[in-house]
Amino acid sequence: MKLNIALLAGDGIGPEVIDQAVKVSNAVAKKFNHEIVWTSGITGAAAIDAVGEPYPDATHEICMAADAVLFGAIGHPRFDNDPKATVRPEQGLLKMRQKLGLFANVRPTFTFPSLIDNSPLKRERIEGTDLIILRELTGGIYFGERGRKDDGNTAFDTCTYTRAEIQRLAKLGFEMAMTRSKKLCCVDKANVLESSRLWRETVQDMEKDYPEVEVSYEFVDAVAMRLVQWPSSYDVLITENLFGDILTDEASVISGSMGLMPSASIGVHTSLFEPIHGSYPQAAGKDIANPLATVLSAAMMFEDAFGLKEEAELIRAVVNKSLAEGMVTEDLSGKNKAYKTSEVGDWLAANI
Ligand code: IPM
Ligand code: MN
Repeated sequence: MKLNIALLAGDGIGPEVIDQAVKVSNAVAKKFNHEIVWTSGITGAAAIDAVGEPYPDATHEICMAADAVLFGAIGHPRFDNDPKATVRPEQGLLKMRQKLGLFANVRPTFTFPSLIDNSPLKRERIEGTDLIILRELTGGIYFGERGRKDDGNTAFDTCTYTRAEIQRLAKLGFEMAMTRSKKLCCVDKANVLESSRLWRETVQDMEKDYPEVEVSYEFVDAVAMRLVQWPSSYDVLITENLFGDILTDEASVISGSMGLMPSASIGVHTSLFEPIHGSYPQAAGKDIANPLATVLSAAMMFEDAFGLKEEAELIRAVVNKSLAEGMVTEDLSGKNKAYKTSEVGDWLAANI
């Protein structure tokens, strides 16, 4: 099979972790007789420096022409404390989501048996956790009308959702629940927000099409609590953009292995795969960042974008082997020897 993949390394540790995912993907392609055509594009601060724009048209063309996008991270600290900066790396991410129609962000949270004590939460609370948060990614307050009035002294951001946007996301949630333990939780704030009431109404209307799925409706504040108290009680959660942003960060600490969690953004035009961690600028260029989340994102890409499940499973098995054998970067090595980012990548590729 020929796989056309757009490669957006981005900022900070992005290029280093992406390199390892490329090594591993190429090894998989060789083993299974696939041909991967990688086409690189620039994004984020790197693109601002090069062309003054964080998601240039040329990069968009590359993504549109690809069957999938593998993405590193974007963001640079020089923009963080500058509220007056007019162009920011993050705008590139939002523009990319919007232009590629990446409407659903899929973030799994699961535990690795060998790393369970890395979690800040007690073992008995998190054991058996295997949940997915499905976050709506191109609507809501992120893309609503915003502005200032009263000479700049009043600011507003609006949250708007259409029934069609909710249905599109919820459909994916129901379908995902059907392939798992058939439990779906709709997370909203329907006791206060009108947009949440539309979410609830829409999902309730869809229940009859999926009679086997047990649907619960919970307020986002209560979910924030139960997520750390009893995460294994959840399976698939669906929610709007901002709630999803917050809950997915919260969920990412459950496993204690932020450097291991992959994600997918399902789109109208193409799909994008990326680690959930950020650009980790302090580690950039030092060859110390954990590449496993990006490698596992490549596994998600093989499975979800190309339907190549065996290839994906092989990548996951080799990652598990590296964890079991201590072939890991400094964030996971404890008192044992820490390996470099590139050494972990080479080892994974050699073990495919
Ligand atoms: C994320 C990030 C982005 C978001 C930022 C960088 C705009 O936090 O992918 O979760 O808020 O969506
Ligand atoms: Mn976020």
